[in-house]
Amino acid sequence: MSENRAFKSRDWDSHPAYLSSEYKSTRLRSPTKPLVPLVQSLSEITGPVFGQESVGPLDDDLTKNGVTGGEPLGERIIVAGRVLDEDGRPVPDALVEVWQANSAGRYIHAVDQHDAPLDPNFFGGGRCATDAEGRYFFKTIKPGAYPWGNHHNAWRPNHIHFSLFGPSFATRLVTQMYFPGDPLLDLDPIFLATPTAARSRLVADFSLDVTEPGFALGYVFDIVLRGRNETPMET
Ligand SMILES: [Fe+2]
Repeated sequence: MSENRAFKSRDWDSHPAYLSSEYKSTRLRSPTKPLVPLVQSLSEITGPVFGQESVGPLDDDLTKNGVTGGEPLGERIIVAGRVLDEDGRPVPDALVEVWQANSAGRYIHAVDQHDAPLDPNFFGGGRCATDAEGRYFFKTIKPGAYPWGNHHNAWRPNHIHFSLFGPSFATRLVTQMYFPGDPLLDLDPIFLATPTAARSRLVADFSLDVTEPGFALGYVFDIVLRGRNETPMET
């Protein structure tokens, strides 16, 4: 088997292992045999390319991009940050997609049967492309905590799912952003599956600079793609 030269393998000091025994579903889905690296094909590493033209005008505003166009319930927030490489250089034209529960902790998804109200004015998904400085920006509603079946009385901390596409379809990264001071972080097997030293990189910082007066609190979540400070990704 030839070596995979297109992409670097994961640094396990930053990323969660495939198997984390407290995170129950990883027991079934984690590989039981050594991984076999595959060489990416030319089409995988060259296309398609996402960019500003993929994004509609309301795609970065989850408070307005629901089907109804009405105001969703909950606490409005702003989430902003930069996508950076290992040397702190900005990564432009990365497609940043987010999805999240509504303020009551409920997703619009057939599998989510949590007994909490759906919000007809909140779709829960958005996207934007980073600008020349690697910046992205979302307006949204602070997601609620929700229960899950991992163990007795298990609750996910407030979180926003992130997906990033780089210059090609094979360059996709997926992670979750958390909120500072959440008491559920220390109890969450998904958050705790990330190596201790890297966990704080998954927690956004409150920012008065990003906060808009009279409108919404602001949080900063920078995403680093490689290197010592790389953002932990989901396995
Ligand atoms: Fe979630």
